[in-house]
Amino acid sequence: MSTPQASAPMATPYGTLPAASPLPQRKPVSLPRLMEMRERGEKITMLTAYDATFAAVADAAGVECILVGDSLGMVCQGLSSTVGVTLETMRYHTESVVRGLQRIQATAWVISDLPFGSYHESKEQALRSAAELMRAGAHMIKLEGGGWTAPTVQFLVERGIPVCAHLGLTPQTVHALGGYRVQGRGDSAALTLRRHALELQDAGANMLVLEMVPATVASEITTELKTCHTIGIGAGKGTAGQVLVMHDMLGINLGKNPKFVRNFMDGASSVREAMAAYVSAVKNGSFPDDQLHAW
Ligand code: KIV
Repeated sequence: MSTPQASAPMATPYGTLPAASPLPQRKPVSLPRLMEMRERGEKITMLTAYDATFAAVADAAGVECILVGDSLGMVCQGLSSTVGVTLETMRYHTESVVRGLQRIQATAWVISDLPFGSYHESKEQALRSAAELMRAGAHMIKLEGGGWTAPTVQFLVERGIPVCAHLGLTPQTVHALGGYRVQGRGDSAALTLRRHALELQDAGANMLVLEMVPATVASEITTELKTCHTIGIGAGKGTAGQVLVMHDMLGINLGKNPKFVRNFMDGASSVREAMAAYVSAVKNGSFPDDQLHAW
């Protein structure tokens, strides 16, 4: 008589979650594992997810890092920017993602966004907000901006909270930036970006999202940073890893997709297949294509 595998997921009426792939072999993603990947030149893959099922599918497709991004304000809540997202909403979605991952014994590293206004007041406020997301199950928190954020990053890292920074187009400050525009163009802006990146690494950030910055600038920053892994979105192929908003790469945007997005549902027969195609395209260097997806 055959016995079911202990780790096989139970069929449930509302969306059975997939088995992680390949189930027994994969090790949980951790900071040392990300460093090993970097050292052997393997690209790090990241996708956003906001609920249990999509997070589980992304993990099963081989995505290493799941970002519970405050982009959920736009793709889930219908807001016109990320500015209106609250800490309570981030906690709710982080818990949902983490539950989905736990149900399939997933291995992904979970990063959760500190929303606008939840870390701007003081380092202590940032710690309280970050602790809320870590209690919800995040492994790392992300915050936007350079310069003024470095002391906050150091304060959090010293207290055991891994931090991902975010430079370039920082959506929480879209109104101050005057729109969703490329950042770091020109010598002086590129220099400031590089200085901020180095300060954030010195403060202890282990990851840095570079959004909509020229490919050459992102590539130079990547070479300069040794302990902080750059994750690009619209920043060319020279970064240590890539991230996309899940809804964009699945082609379910109602508006026009940004230039830096590829629709991975083209030619895929399932969401999992599309996500797996994204993982292999990032790993084999065929996405992004600097001619098409970068500045
Ligand atoms: O909120 C988000 O999804 C992000 C990505 C665009 C990097 O910050």
